[in-house]
Amino acid sequence: MLGFVVALLAGAAIFAVGTALVRSSERNTDWARDLVGADANAAERLDIVERLAVVGEPWSDRAVRMAAADDPDANVRRLARASVRVDIQAVPPPAEPAASGSPKSDPRLRDAYLDLVRDSLLDRIYDPEGADYLVADRDWPLRAHSMIGLERMDNIRTCVETVLAEGVPGDLMETGVWRGGATIFMRALLEAYGDRSRKVWVADSFRGLPPPDPEQFPVDAGDAHHERDELAISLATVRENFRRYGLLDDRVVFVEGWFRDTLPACGVERLAVLRLDGDLYESTYVALESLYPKLSIGGFAIVDDYALPACRQAIHDFRAAQNIDEPLVTVDWTGTYWRRRA
Ligand SMILES: C[S@@+](CC[C@H](N)C(=O)[O-])C[C@H]1O[C@@H](n2cnc3c(N)ncnc32)[C@H](O)[C@@H]1O
Repeated sequence: MLGFVVALLAGAAIFAVGTALVRSSERNTDWARDLVGADANAAERLDIVERLAVVGEPWSDRAVRMAAADDPDANVRRLARASVRVDIQAVPPPAEPAASGSPKSDPRLRDAYLDLVRDSLLDRIYDPEGADYLVADRDWPLRAHSMIGLERMDNIRTCVETVLAEGVPGDLMETGVWRGGATIFMRALLEAYGDRSRKVWVADSFRGLPPPDPEQFPVDAGDAHHERDELAISLATVRENFRRYGLLDDRVVFVEGWFRDTLPACGVERLAVLRLDGDLYESTYVALESLYPKLSIGGFAIVDDYALPACRQAIHDFRAAQNIDEPLVTVDWTGTYWRRRA
């Protein structure tokens, strides 16, 4: 019993010293890191690791491994939160050698980070039932940074992970971004996998949908999406949303304007994932015409609005015109995609 009390007091003392060192001065963080790896228990190590993160210092591999080895989800999530504050790249590689094309970071930590970003983007943390809507008759969420829901968000992850793992060349792009959530998730995926070569292209008018042009695109006649102010999100707001996740940098490229004006010469050279979310026939067809030729073999064309007749018609017309016969794969009630084979 006495031994236990002494050990407890010693642990508490080490923790207090380590914490104070980290708080007091960045010069002493090496010493604090050694303490973290020495005698502190898992909860104490986590606390010190978090504080090291706050002062911008990378933590010791050993501390992270030991803390994560205890495994409870809560620990891994706390580490993920700390890693967002500093740099996910600072997380050391897992003990076992990484397979080729697989992430450099600890897979559990990476999953926790990506789940946390996804659930924040979808507002699942504060509104798990998805009950808070902007407009009663629409599935447009009140606060979430994306309206696409869990299955389509997870589909983005699957597609991006596949192109990263298989080395399919090209950037990631969405045409029709609203508050930016799907593209923020694309950027988070690049971050989590340590990809520094690809960009995320973020294309939108940043003032809502265009009025229909029935002469050129008769299927869009009468569409009233352009009257919905809720769909007009400014570029400044979307940039700020990226910044809040710590993901705004020069590998995020904003393409502002109507697709018919911007996409044909937006500067993208090659795409691995192209996500279409512009609702209209025009917005879908124009994006495919300009960008599908840039999609790599093995890349993914994702369609958000397949449930909308105008969008579905644009997909069928474009595929027929280009002799595309790769199968359409269903994601959920409206999401679909195909993988380019030729
Ligand atoms: C349904 S929202 C996109 C939702 C978004 N992907 C998300 O993750 O929540 C449709 C977006 O497409 C944009 N849009 C539609 N047609 C467009 C066009 N022809 N040119 C530019 N932007 C367009 C609108 O401004 C709007 O932001």
